[in-house]
Amino acid sequence: MLVVQTIAEVRKFVGEARESRKSVGFVPTMGALHEGHASLIRRAVERCDYVVLSVFVNPTQFGPSEDLAKYPRTFDADRQLADRLGVDLCFAPSASEMYAANCSTYVVPEGLQDALCGRSRPGHFRGVCTVVAKLFNIVRPDVAFFGQKDAQQAVIVQRMIEDLNFAVELEVLPTVREPDGLAMSSRNAYLSPAQRQDALCLFHALQAAFAAITRAQRDAAAIRAQMQQAIAAMPSARVEYIELVDAATLKPVTGLAGHHVLIALAVHVGATRLIDNIVVDVT
Ligand code: PAF
Repeated sequence: MLVVQTIAEVRKFVGEARESRKSVGFVPTMGALHEGHASLIRRAVERCDYVVLSVFVNPTQFGPSEDLAKYPRTFDADRQLADRLGVDLCFAPSASEMYAANCSTYVVPEGLQDALCGRSRPGHFRGVCTVVAKLFNIVRPDVAFFGQKDAQQAVIVQRMIEDLNFAVELEVLPTVREPDGLAMSSRNAYLSPAQRQDALCLFHALQAAFAAITRAQRDAAAIRAQMQQAIAAMPSARVEYIELVDAATLKPVTGLAGHHVLIALAVHVGATRLIDNIVVDVT
């Protein structure tokens, strides 16, 4: 696996792959790779001839009081894992390589950014769209691989691809969970052993929602109340939001029947903000 830091090198190596008529798969990450990222990489390697991984902790998607400085950085381990999994090119740019000092153009996903995580993280999806658009322009992949764990991000990036005519297909892969159900996340590394236990409340709340739907409950408010209860049971957990929204538009649904429903939540466990979701086709 080649590791490069500059845009020019990415263009050179990906250009050579394209000249050899190879399909290009792309997995954008902020590093601190875990099994969730590994599943994206494995799928990219299975599907595409040439696989590019980016490792870049993107400053523009962090708010002023968020965890940019302490975000886990484990580049040596990331590089080894990516190499083992068959990545061809790892792009690990500096912030100044990605953002010139006079950079003043951003991509703003209007509307969709006002839902779910966007409400408490103003500017987050502007940062995500900007960096993903830049990375798409640098790598020019045929297929980009994203995780369902960041459901709103996947919906927004799909919208951006269509709105800005990027010639890239988005493949969204299922959330990978620990054996006890906790969704894999780089931020799980912040949890103390007691908080790690409490963090299971996100999964338990989603299970409660699914069970209620299976028992023919179709009222979003009733399901939300049950999810609240699952979280209230955990001492270090505080709900930021629990939402039942249409999976494509991210608009709230009150009666679930006939909807493809995204059930999403954000919960603070101690100082760590965790998110999780499931999508249910409700009849
Ligand atoms: O999901 C992430 O890790 C980031 O938001 C992404 C897509 C790599 C953009 O920085």
